[in-house]
Formats: sequence, C-alpha cells, structure tokens
Amino acid sequence: MAKLAKTKSSAKKPAKKAAKKSVASKMTAASKKASASKKTAASKKRDMKYYFTVKDSVKVVQDRAGPKANKRAKEVFNSLVKHLHAFIKEANPTMDEWLWGIKFLTETGHLSTDWRQEFILLSDTLGISMLVETLNNHKMSGETESTVLGPFYIENAPKYKNGANICLDGKGEPVWVHGRVTDAKGKPIKGAILDVWQANEDGFYDVQQKGIQPDMNLRGVFTSEADGSYYFRSAYPRYYPIPHDGTVGKMLEALDRNHNRPAHLHFIVSAPGYEKVTTHIFTPDCPWLQDDAVFGVKESLIADFKTVDDPALAAKLGMPNPFKIVEWDFILTKSKGR
Ligand code: BEZ
Ligand code: FE
Repeated sequence: MAKLAKTKSSAKKPAKKAAKKSVASKMTAASKKASASKKTAASKKRDMKYYFTVKDSVKVVQDRAGPKANKRAKEVFNSLVKHLHAFIKEANPTMDEWLWGIKFLTETGHLSTDWRQEFILLSDTLGISMLVETLNNHKMSGETESTVLGPFYIENAPKYKNGANICLDGKGEPVWVHGRVTDAKGKPIKGAILDVWQANEDGFYDVQQKGIQPDMNLRGVFTSEADGSYYFRSAYPRYYPIPHDGTVGKMLEALDRNHNRPAHLHFIVSAPGYEKVTTHIFTPDCPWLQDDAVFGVKESLIADFKTVDDPALAAKLGMPNPFKIVEWDFILTKSKGR
C-alpha cells in the first residue's frame, strides 16, 4: 500500500521528479567514481594482505587469526608457521617428497597406540624431547640433572625395603646401588621416593617381554631413610635398541644413524617440598655413550661403577663376590614458590 501511494504522489508531480532524477544521476556518477577508486585501494590492500605469495606466505597465514583467537595458541602457531615456511623454503621439496612426508607422519600416527608412542619416539630421536625437557628443568647449582622419561616407565611398581633385590630373572652381573638424597646444601631428605627401572641383560624391559621375563623385573620403589640413604641390588645395565621397526627406524636407517641407547638405570626421585626429577645413571664404559639415539646423556649423569672383590663386604650386603658397586647421590631442587 505505501509503495502504491508513493508512486501515485510522484506521478502527480512530473517536473519535480525529473529534476530530482538528474540530481540523483549526477550523485550516482560521482559516488560511483569515488567507490571505484575506493575499491581499487581495497583490492590493492587485499592483494597485498590476503593473496598468497611465496614472499608473504608467513604473514598471509598468520593474519587469518581472528579477534577471538586464544593468545597462547596464536603465539605458538605463528611461530610454527614462521619456522615451517622457512623450512619448506629451504628444503624446497618436490610434490612427491611432500607426499612422502605426509605418508611418513600418517604412518607414525597409525603406529601410535596406548602401548607404543611412535610420535614421542620421533620427538626423542629428533632431539625435541631433550630440548623441551632441558629448557624446562635447567639446574643452577649442582642439583641432579634430568633426562628423558622414555616409554617403558609404569606406575605402581612394587614397593621394597632398602636392600632388596629387584633383579627377578637372575641375569646379568650383580650390582649394589646406593647413595643419599639431599638438598642443594647437602641436608639429607628423609622419605624421598625413588622409583627405579631398567632393561635386563638381554637389552629388554619386562613390558617388552611379557611371559619371557617375570612381571616387574628390574623395577621397584624405595624410600630414603633418616640420613637420606637408599640402597638396593640390581644387575649391571646393558645398552639396548630403541624400537626401530617403524617410521622412526626407517628415518634412522635413511640417515645412517645408530638406534641404540647407552646402558642406564632410570630413576624418578620425589619428596614433598622439592621438584620431582626424572633422570638416569649411565655406566661409564658403554660404547654408545657418545651416540645415544635419543640424546639423553648429560655428562653429570655418568657414574663410576667399580668392581669389588671383598668377600666380607659381599657377605655383609648379601651379594655374591665379586660384584659391582655404584654410589650415587640425588640432589633435589626446592619447589618453586617456597
Ligand atoms: C628409554 O630409556 O627407556 C627410552 C627413552 C627414549 C626412547 C626409547 C627408550
Ligand atoms: Fe631406558
């Protein structure tokens, strides 16, 4: 109805209508010109900002983040895009090589289950795990340094009294492991929990050989005494291969790289009021010490294992004679905020 009324009223005033029309057409021409020049500027801006070019690739991708982007996600992904684009520009892969990379990562994902984490292994063998771990656990004043956790840790290992033997398969050279848990000033820490695990003489963890090794072989949880001391019997560790039948193995082979880890005992040491430390003790004579497949060796973690031929001491400790012995103190860092 309103439209019809408007039409009717304008029909009654033809001269006015014609005048209005000419003004309107003039305005339209002017505004068309203005908007055309505006459009050119906008499209120029869009060309620069939004169209993908090799030169501006990083900025074009980063600029897509919206106003509601999570601040930390934006920071991390902007950095990832910056470095990945630089990597691609440097490596300059062919389309076939790019597809090979996609397949490699896809297969790495397919190999990862609750029992096997091929992606963590990839991170380990590229030195990423050690980099993240070391940046997060920088020690200032002689406290025990940390290293990789690895895939063979399991919670709820048996709790033992100090002096127990964790070597349930009886293989390997007997070794007496002892020392103290202290703070940075040497004050003993009573009640510290030491969670220990290692591979057996054949170079396998119990979880890799279900039905072959006794369950919980070479694992145990100990508690430090009033003077900070801990002690137990184990077997001299041996070097062993990391799982290398998957994509990580293929990468190591393509790079002509070693797939062994030097011989070590794993420890997680914790106590109330102190930072938990995930660490190793390495034997000093292992041929792979300088070529750890996962870069876990730190000089401060190489221990002095001695051979003891002392029947009286062996009898006192309940060890066969001769035997190996290692003394190793754990120095914990006070928790932050104390
Ligand atoms: C380990 O020491 O148990 C380990 C660490 C990283 C990768 C594979 C094994
Ligand atoms: Fe290990």
